[in-house]
Amino acid sequence: MAPPRFLYGTAWKEDATAALTELALRAGFRGIDTANQRRHYVEAGVGQGLAAVYQAGVVKREDLFLQTKFTYLPGQDHRLPYDPAASLSTQVAQSMASSLEHLGTDHVDSYVLHGPASGQGWSQYDVEVWAAMLKERDAGRTRALGVSNVSLRHLQQLVGSGAEPPAFVQNRCFARQGWDRAVRTFCAGQRIVYQGFSLLTANPEALRHPVVAAAAARNQATPAQVIFRFALAVGMLPLTGTTDERHMKQDLASDGLTLTPEETHAIEALAG
Ligand SMILES: NC(=O)c1ccc[n+]([C@@H]2O[C@H](COP(=O)([O-])OP(=O)(O)OC[C@H]3O[C@@H](n4cnc5c(N)ncnc54)[C@H](OP(=O)(O)O)[C@@H]3O)[C@@H](O)[C@H]2O)c1
Repeated sequence: MAPPRFLYGTAWKEDATAALTELALRAGFRGIDTANQRRHYVEAGVGQGLAAVYQAGVVKREDLFLQTKFTYLPGQDHRLPYDPAASLSTQVAQSMASSLEHLGTDHVDSYVLHGPASGQGWSQYDVEVWAAMLKERDAGRTRALGVSNVSLRHLQQLVGSGAEPPAFVQNRCFARQGWDRAVRTFCAGQRIVYQGFSLLTANPEALRHPVVAAAAARNQATPAQVIFRFALAVGMLPLTGTTDERHMKQDLASDGLTLTPEETHAIEALAG
């Protein structure tokens, strides 16, 4: 299915992953972000949370947008979802098979390369992994593909290689870099949906800014909600990983806030 307006992120939740996934779905989230990277995520716990809401009749699989990731060996700990001695293409296939088992589904909606092999550019390793991911897509095991933790250079090289571009880019979004302006602009030009994470944690100065405070007061909302509303206003698909039920509801409700074009412009320009 098409992505909803907000994604619930499941990183760093360890034993609470299943319960928080269930809580987020009961609170109204319809998009879930995870990864087959046990170091930071418990993907099997996400699957348990999903099974609980299906069983309770809260949602059906087809109501949800499920996104997971392939993570290279250096991003993993010893709890690997693939044979480290296998080729990269085989690792992608094994990681995907394991994700589908964890999540109790025959396909995900988006499959994301967690990060390129090198910070310097789109390497031969990425070319191989991207081709393997496209095979997974063509086999119906994911509806769409994405890349994460990428620079403008990575994206230009990926698109320049002639390969099919991603449907999604997922990046940490710093206000001081114009909210990742260069990458967002590239994405807009290529019809790639930009997913922003760490919108609150990376931007304490934005949360404290008078423009944000004034917009929050006018909307009888919180600065956090204004940041999420801003992200939606500039075309981002925001992620939140909140562990607090009240914040879950506030994050979803941020879509109903109003920002004037001047406020949106001022927040976009406030730090870079
Ligand atoms: N691709 C990658 O490499 C990558 C990297 C990092 C994250 N991610 C994804 O992005 C997801 C989100 O990560 P994140 O870094 O954006 O967020 P996060 O680490 O989950 O942190 C969100 C923070 O904001 C607070 N918060 C949320 N809503 C709030 C509200 N309405 N009012 C006040 N505080 C609020 C939360 O506190 P409370 O818990 O108290 O609400 C928490 O401290 C992750 O779970 C993961 O799925 C991906």
